[in-house]
Amino acid sequence: MDCSLAPIPDYGVYPDTPGLTQAAPQAGSIALTWADGYVSEFHYIWLRDSCPCPACVNAVTREQTFEIFAHPDNFAIDDVSLTPSGALSMVWNHESHRSLYHPGWLRAHCYSEAARCARRLQPRAWGQDMQHRLPVFRFAEIMDSDTVLLHWLRTLRDDGVAVLRETPLEKGLLRQLAQRISFLRRTNFGDIFDVQSDPDANSNAFTSLRLPLHCDLPTRELQPGFQFLHCLENRASGGDSILVDGFRVARSLQDEKPAAFRLLSTRPVEFRNRDRHYDYRCKMPMIRLDEEGNLREIRLANFLRGPLDLPANQIESFYHAYREFYQMFSEDRFLVRFRLQPGDIETFDNGRVMHARDAFDPSTGERLLQGCYVDRDEVQSRIRILEREEVRSWL
Ligand code: OGA
Ligand code: ZN
Ligand code: ZN
Repeated sequence: MDCSLAPIPDYGVYPDTPGLTQAAPQAGSIALTWADGYVSEFHYIWLRDSCPCPACVNAVTREQTFEIFAHPDNFAIDDVSLTPSGALSMVWNHESHRSLYHPGWLRAHCYSEAARCARRLQPRAWGQDMQHRLPVFRFAEIMDSDTVLLHWLRTLRDDGVAVLRETPLEKGLLRQLAQRISFLRRTNFGDIFDVQSDPDANSNAFTSLRLPLHCDLPTRELQPGFQFLHCLENRASGGDSILVDGFRVARSLQDEKPAAFRLLSTRPVEFRNRDRHYDYRCKMPMIRLDEEGNLREIRLANFLRGPLDLPANQIESFYHAYREFYQMFSEDRFLVRFRLQPGDIETFDNGRVMHARDAFDPSTGERLLQGCYVDRDEVQSRIRILEREEVRSWL
């Protein structure tokens, strides 16, 4: 049987080669070797759970119908072989069930320490050096080319920042850009919001005040993943922009002030957006780590912070730690400064790259930006879909 006929239990695209050349059963697992010498071990229970056959995975939805817990956990095999084109074929001790695995799918899901480590995406940290190498893309190319779209989204994922240039000066343009990815994240500020000085503002963002380094909406359980700010007019004096890689600052804090890092990554702080119609609040640590201690997101916006609500004996030490973190954000080694020009769209990872603007003087000219959010899930999903096409074009 040709291994291209081995069913794939998802919509991914996997290379047929190198195929498998050796399968060595052991107690509880099997060691597989691919034609290029790569070796990996898979447990029987994992393999049985991953059987892609139509009895185990619904061929239409590609979701599993097999339930591993409906079976005793003593999975073993009666027979194992490799097909001529390098797929893995197994016959199980239960019900003589036969499973056929695609070598490319298996390889992509190898869970050795090295493979898991290689799959882990590492953000590319930056400091002031980014000032002279801000990634720039032409708006029209993102709209016209999937290759450029993928390049921009990977840049957002890995560097956390990119500027789009030569965009039409049209209100609502962000909708087209967001639709190139997926859905806009709507909030009480609208799906696309105007950033301009408003006498009846419901946030400091909509005044001419300086906005210190912050992320938007740490007030929500799901802080928006990415933010786009489209500059339509910028004639007022002041209003220059600053960006800082918050992950870089957090890592420096961890190295240089570990006690502060520990407090900020474990003690929750409440952020609030409230006006006459809404009252959003979210209480989480300012530095959020994942289960392995990697940085997940930063939540920082001094103007949205509620009163500290911590045990009394932690108040002063928390303020001390917060001060150390906050002061680091204004160190030159981390700052990237620039002035948005009409036609620029500043795009950045809202949970990683903190943004700021200087105060501006609205009596000296118009300043109008439009902003929107796109959630991290949407960007990641779009990257995967574009990558399927990319792999298909290589094969
Ligand atoms: C905001 C914001 C930046 C700017 O609206 O949240 O950060 O340059 N605006 O006005
Ligand atoms: Zn099956
Ligand atoms: Zn903002």
